[in-house]
Amino acid sequence: MISSMSRIYFLFFSFVITLFSLVSALPVDRRDVWVPPITSPTEGTIWTIGTLVNVTWDTSTKPDQVTNPLGRVQLRKDDLTSSDVLAEGFNLTDGFVEITVPDVTPDFGYQVVLFGDSGNFSPEFEIVAA
Ligand SMILES: *[C@@H]1O[C@H](CO)[C@@H](O)[C@H](O)[C@H]1NC(C)=O
Ligand SMILES: *[C@@H]1O[C@H](CO)[C@@H](O)[C@H](O)[C@H]1NC(C)=O
Repeated sequence: MISSMSRIYFLFFSFVITLFSLVSALPVDRRDVWVPPITSPTEGTIWTIGTLVNVTWDTSTKPDQVTNPLGRVQLRKDDLTSSDVLAEGFNLTDGFVEITVPDVTPDFGYQVVLFGDSGNFSPEFEIVAA
């Protein structure tokens, strides 16, 4: 007679085996989705409307193959990404792009979004009037 305890062990063991074969079956994709972390602006950054500023990001995490090497920068506030494109078509491997601070309502809580394969938000910073 099989005790309920050994049945539980058996079920658990089958579960672990199944889980293991699932994990090892996952494809290893070298063309990774690359979302470089933004290094500027940061918290405490103040941008003045109309001035030329740099958006910078860390390129040290770049995988060998980047699916989409071209980037795009947009502004974000209150969980909404503006449809205005501040810069696009630049090379993500550059690590920076110059943008002109757009004429928005001066306020705290702005973020930039850097798009490549996916999007990455900066910390919240401030935009002030000229
Ligand atoms: C942005 O960074 C680049 C590279 O470091 C530099 O050449 C350029 O002058 C910077 N632009 C601004 C507006 O700070
Ligand atoms: C981006 O820059 C890298 C390194 O400078 C270069 O190898 C690559 O061809 C460039 N890609 C595009 C789309 O310009």
